Amino acid sequence: MSYNAHNGADAGSGSQSGRGFKVGVFALLMPAVVITSLVYYVVSHTAPAGAVNASSMPAAVAQRIARVGTLDIRDNGARVQHTGEEVFKRTCTACHSTGALGSPKFGDAAAWAPRIATGFEALVHSALKGKNNMPAQGGGDYDDSEVARAVVYMANAGGAKFAEPKAPAAAVAASAPVAAK
Ligand code: HEC
Repeated sequence: MSYNAHNGADAGSGSQSGRGFKVGVFALLMPAVVITSLVYYVVSHTAPAGAVNASSMPAAVAQRIARVGTLDIRDNGARVQHTGEEVFKRTCTACHSTGALGSPKFGDAAAWAPRIATGFEALVHSALKGKNNMPAQGGGDYDDSEVARAVVYMANAGGAKFAEPKAPAAAVAASAPVAAK
């Protein structure tokens, strides 16, 4: 009886110490894993961006040692100019397609005739600077020559026979100094 009981106890303690060993190893390894991942986390989050990814280093360094103030020279003449129709469809149509705010409606010869009579220059001036309910450039942001072409497009649809102006060198030269930031 006691022998059997002793045997049983032995078998039990034997398997328990085996489990205890595994738990011990786990308990030793766990902090090591946690510490390693914590260190990695801190290092990777505090290091400067350039140091984490070696491939981004040259760019990051170049950015850091760059001189303060750079001159960004852009060739405004190379910007694709919008045609009169494009400017109209992007901006002017908002009012002129319906005659909103008292604007001369697109294609309405009666509405345009007295305005056309004032001459091309006067119409372009109104479009560039704004007139009564019309904001400057109709609220758009174009080269003067683009607005002028939009005026030609609209006025000609209303009965005028204005010639389409080319992009004048003056407009390009006038916008060039803006490039120096
Ligand atoms: C927010 C509405 C609005 C937009 C957008 C608008 N216009 Fe006008 N436009 C008007 C109104 C209103 C008038 C009439 C102004 C007046 O004579 O009192 C007008 C008149 C004009 C005239 C006649 C000016 C004159 O001297 O009789 C021209 C030319 C013209 N617009 C061109 C344009 C062009 C080009 C665009 C687009 C780049 C444009 N408009 C966009 C509202 C607008």
